[in-house]
Amino acid sequence: MTRQIKTDDASGRGAVAGFKVPFPGRMHGYTEEGIKAVSAVMRKAEGQTQGAYLRQFEADFTAYTGANHVFAVDNATNALRLAAVLCRLGKGAEVIIPAYTFCATAIPFGKTGARIVWADIDPRTWVADPDDIERKITSKTRAIMVVHLLGMPVDMPRVMKIARKHNLKVVEDCAQAPGAAINGRRVGTFGDFGCFSWHGAKNMTTLGEGGMLTVKSHKDAALVPGLRHNGVRAITGKRQRYWVPAMSTVDIDIEGVWPNNFCLGEAQCALGSVELRRLDAINAMLISQAEKIKVRLADTAEIEFARIPSGYKHIFHQFIMHFNGRAFNADRNDLMDILVNDYRIRCIVQYCPLYRFPLFQKMGFGRHNCPVLDAWWDNSFSFPWWCGMPGETIDYLCNSTKAAIAKLKGLKK
Ligand SMILES: Cc1ncc(COP(=O)(O)O)c(C=O)c1O
Repeated sequence: MTRQIKTDDASGRGAVAGFKVPFPGRMHGYTEEGIKAVSAVMRKAEGQTQGAYLRQFEADFTAYTGANHVFAVDNATNALRLAAVLCRLGKGAEVIIPAYTFCATAIPFGKTGARIVWADIDPRTWVADPDDIERKITSKTRAIMVVHLLGMPVDMPRVMKIARKHNLKVVEDCAQAPGAAINGRRVGTFGDFGCFSWHGAKNMTTLGEGGMLTVKSHKDAALVPGLRHNGVRAITGKRQRYWVPAMSTVDIDIEGVWPNNFCLGEAQCALGSVELRRLDAINAMLISQAEKIKVRLADTAEIEFARIPSGYKHIFHQFIMHFNGRAFNADRNDLMDILVNDYRIRCIVQYCPLYRFPLFQKMGFGRHNCPVLDAWWDNSFSFPWWCGMPGETIDYLCNSTKAAIAKLKGLKK
């Protein structure tokens, strides 16, 4: 490998010199329609935030998901922050969160002062295991957080059954899974709240940042506009002078909770409506790429894929595999050494169990009981992944993997 110029982001995506197959931050660009939509907002002098484009984007996402209430926000972390606040956890409460996820899933819940209890993964689907969630419920549990990680839906019918039995709130982190579904029902519509991300690396983006919150109950939904925009609201009722006592008022929505500004600008919302119309096509391309890899590696028993339950739509935001080289005493690092150095494929490892990070350990959440995740994660790895990956790149990835495994078998037999 030639000298590496490190300009990638912390996720491992981005430009790193020396790779035949890089891991770009993103490959599919905007359409002319999207560019025109943004320019149109820029040309309009008025507004720029909280106007007609916001309402349209929210209406479009309502139609797309079938969610009861939809609120565009500036990123998924803040959608999660709103959901965490609306769960009304407070000190002493416990929230069950999958340990296998991006840190933004858990941080907003940590900020509420609740105790995070880490949930394990299902060994077949690699997302939250409902049985483990149920085992971890105590008298202090107030909410269950699930993550449709990589685009794979969690078993929501089962999670909802558990939540109803124990009277718990459910938050779905759908940051990586817009369009994923179970028997046609989209993720983000099962739980009390769904949180979506339009970050630049996601299957659709609104200029690099953006998010969406779905809310089930009308009562909770009524609290979001204030919490999203600094507690500002119109003064209702008849007034003799519209400026007395002031143009608007600022009030509290939940006792003791300060509001925020989590609004998404008009240009981003205008683009969001356009991008949303492409989302299913983008997801379909990613699904087809994943299918091709799975077919090409079907005869390679050492490479395992997540099992997708019947009726589940996994949208493959990422392509993660598991390597089992026990028979010839090899692990994922041995395999990656060859793929990276001999074949110059920018493989990466993703979503380290959160309890292994200093942040969570220092905040008091280093304790865990996730044996499945611990055993699985150290042998998981990702191929480079982007929408529109050419067939020859897929062939190169698969053939290189087969050759690398043959080499390892030869070395360690
Ligand atoms: C699983 C998960 N949750 C939450 C987030 C946070 O999204 P955002 O960057 O929009 O705040 C991400 C973003 O990468 C994510 O992957």
